Amino acid sequence: MALDPLVATTVAPRFRTTMSTTTAEPGRQSLLFLKRFLRNPREVGALCPSTRQLGRAMLDDLELSAGDVLVEYGAGTGSLTEAIDERLRTDWAGVRYLGIEREPGFCTVLRRRFPRLDFAEAQVEDVADLLAARDLPAPRAVISGLPLIFLPARRQIIEATAGVLAPGGTFRTFSYVQSYVTGGAREVRSVMRATFDAFTLHGPVLRNFPPAFVLRGDKSTDRTG
Ligand SMILES: C[S@@+](CC[C@H](N)C(=O)[O-])C[C@H]1O[C@@H](n2cnc3c(N)ncnc32)[C@H](O)[C@@H]1O
Repeated sequence: MALDPLVATTVAPRFRTTMSTTTAEPGRQSLLFLKRFLRNPREVGALCPSTRQLGRAMLDDLELSAGDVLVEYGAGTGSLTEAIDERLRTDWAGVRYLGIEREPGFCTVLRRRFPRLDFAEAQVEDVADLLAARDLPAPRAVISGLPLIFLPARRQIIEATAGVLAPGGTFRTFSYVQSYVTGGAREVRSVMRATFDAFTLHGPVLRNFPPAFVLRGDKSTDRTG
């Protein structure tokens, strides 16, 4: 897929700056990310990793306690994982984490960066089996970095996620501002609205490239009515 010239010229200086620090790990991660994007643009879905600001916005108001499970979809090189790991080391002590990432090169980076965390080199479509294989209970939170708007299986992924979440659980994903009106982004919002008990849109987070909305789908604690 050819790059949009606007995107290419906007992003190039950022990569030049990053790559000039040849020994810097973030520079290597950005380069790996860009290479994987060029090889597989629809499944990677972004030219560069999300920012810390987007990571924090994704976790805003998320209260978890020891024994709860948090699943991350499409962890990439770990930009959102970093924000999650920060919380796991502080107010989320005892929360269990499972990251699911299909790209082997990204899994190698993730395991090196976060040796305490469990990563499955797998498809998120298999989330129920992956949880069962680890004897993990229903997750309280699923945090997604997937480029859902490009994925043909987006409806199934959202519905399957709602199926595995615990009552009171939350699914969070993001959607780039410039894609807001595309068919894929509209479908993601409408499926989330139809699937969860509450759907809300937050942001946009401007300190991200590109700026992005955070989408939240929440399951009610009462599943009887
Ligand atoms: C936009 S990147 C996000 C990376 C990182 N979370 C971030 O926000 O910077 C999307 C990631 O989802 C992964 N991915 C795409 N489809 C997947 C699937 N079906 N199962 C697991 N991972 C998938 C890609 O390999 C890629 O690492």
